[in-house]
Amino acid sequence: MCGIIGFCGSLPASEVLLAGLKQLEYRGYDSAGIAVLSENGIRMEKAIGNVSRLEEKLGTESFSGNCGIGHTRWATHGGVSEENAHPHHSGRVTLIHNGIIENYKEIWEKYGVGRTLVSQTDSEIAAVLFDSLYEEGKPEEAIWKAVSILEGSYAFCILFEDIPDTIYCIRKVSPLVAARVKEGSFVASDVTALIAYTQEYFVLPEDTILVLKKEEMYLENQGNQVKPELLHVNWDTTAAQKNGYPHYMIKEIHEQPEALHNTITPRMKDGIPDFEVDKIPDDIFKNIHQVKIVACGTAMHAGLVGKVLMEKRVRIPVTVEIASEFRYQNPIIDNRTLVIVISQSGETIDTLASLRLAKSEGAYTLAIVNVKGSTIARESDYVFYTHAGPEIAVASTKAYTVQLAAMVLLAVRMAYVRGIREIEKIKQDYEALKQASEAVHASLALEEEIKELTYALTEKEDLFFIGRGIDYALSCEGSIKLKEISYIHSEAYAAGELKHGTISLITEGVPVIAIATQKEVYAKMISNIREVKARGALVILITQKDTPVESSLYDYHLTVPELPDEFTPIPAAVILQLIAYYTSVHKGLNVDQPRNLAKSVTVE
Ligand code: F6R
Repeated sequence: MCGIIGFCGSLPASEVLLAGLKQLEYRGYDSAGIAVLSENGIRMEKAIGNVSRLEEKLGTESFSGNCGIGHTRWATHGGVSEENAHPHHSGRVTLIHNGIIENYKEIWEKYGVGRTLVSQTDSEIAAVLFDSLYEEGKPEEAIWKAVSILEGSYAFCILFEDIPDTIYCIRKVSPLVAARVKEGSFVASDVTALIAYTQEYFVLPEDTILVLKKEEMYLENQGNQVKPELLHVNWDTTAAQKNGYPHYMIKEIHEQPEALHNTITPRMKDGIPDFEVDKIPDDIFKNIHQVKIVACGTAMHAGLVGKVLMEKRVRIPVTVEIASEFRYQNPIIDNRTLVIVISQSGETIDTLASLRLAKSEGAYTLAIVNVKGSTIARESDYVFYTHAGPEIAVASTKAYTVQLAAMVLLAVRMAYVRGIREIEKIKQDYEALKQASEAVHASLALEEEIKELTYALTEKEDLFFIGRGIDYALSCEGSIKLKEISYIHSEAYAAGELKHGTISLITEGVPVIAIATQKEVYAKMISNIREVKARGALVILITQKDTPVESSLYDYHLTVPELPDEFTPIPAAVILQLIAYYTSVHKGLNVDQPRNLAKSVTVE
């Protein structure tokens, strides 16, 4: 949450900062601002709304200077206003911040004497603290003193008025990456902002100051220089562009066949899942008596599908936990527990805290993560990287389907090493996973049909998803996708549970998206669909292709190719993503940046 960029080098800083902020905008888009150092001092500009508003405000006005900082905000502390937009300024200090300062009140009471605040933010109070502790020419000392006082999470980029062309950075929990290239020194919340210049970067270690200058960049810890550990991203600038699509979301929906291929293929050896490339040992699958899957939002929904797959194959108890609950529930974990955390960004604070808790209790930890070098990836015992490439749209799509593929691979490997599934069946699972990935093309081919039928949803206020078993797990994902970008109230229900209360909400014309791809419970599902149809629901039915269906049961019927039951969520998810996407498009909403949301939730 909140995007940060800093640059010192040979290019005009304001241009570099604006371009970087556009790449980071998915981290927050309530307001944006930049501050640039020049021989005339620090010049700052802020605007409410997204980065293009800031750009409009700056107009063609030249903003001279080659060193500066920029921020795009997701409001936590203080409403959406220009005063609360970053950068914040106090005395000789101008800074940008991502995170939350928990002891801001105490800091203000002790260090704010005689000062006035312009904003309602904790970040401005941090600027007050840095300025109070700053003695001319000794920025590092001020930073070390300040971080010994600050409580909470932070990534700061700081300009000191009397130190020309230099940016100081420090972080705790909140992410910062950096790169030194021929054009100068860069720091940012994530690598998407740097990718136009380089594919080599490093993650700023915690408790280390990063100093950016035009000619050099270095890390130091209490006077000692620290060598950065370089990382490489295997995608380039085109992967982070819309490439002719109207929105990132639809581009990312279309990228799923490739993302699945890239995630699955390196992990298959002779038809059996193999994690040699990931260096994941079989011990963590053998020596355990329970699995806990911990994640948030869409990633947690991937876990729900994973639970069904794993329990069926491995016959081991698997629970799926919402990370923000798990960490405060004194969970039952021991050194024979495998905790699988799932996170696209690898930075979600509750998932990270849950991972730390699991480690402290002695569990084996395995992270399924998309962003290379992210905090969760670095802190977990083992990492399974999904290869979805950068996901920019706030609504997660391709990251979800590759997480499903990861869950299949893990479940099957676990069954294999525990010797409870015959090789033949394991090979069949692999074939089914390949077919499911191929079947995504068939779902994408339904795009025009889905575009038309979603006109029927745009005026609706409430909508329900129903399914049984793995289709219920998928319903949860369909529901979050639709509500987050179309603003239609939506709920997911286990189909058999409807008549225990919720069916009272089904009246004439209420849409029900019924996912009925599981042959095992198909007859039961049909009964549940009859119940809603009898009460006037507008039914969009999703089944496997060759399943016989009575036409009186539905208003619209969409199918996925024939597959073994547990593999249908991959192509069916794509149908649900397209339904959410086109409903939002027809309503004229900001698909990629839905209100109040941001990608990468780095606050609790
Ligand atoms: C919904 C969505 C969110 C994320 C959740 C976890 O479309 O994207 O629900 O899935 O915030 O994020 P990660 O996976 O980055 O931990």
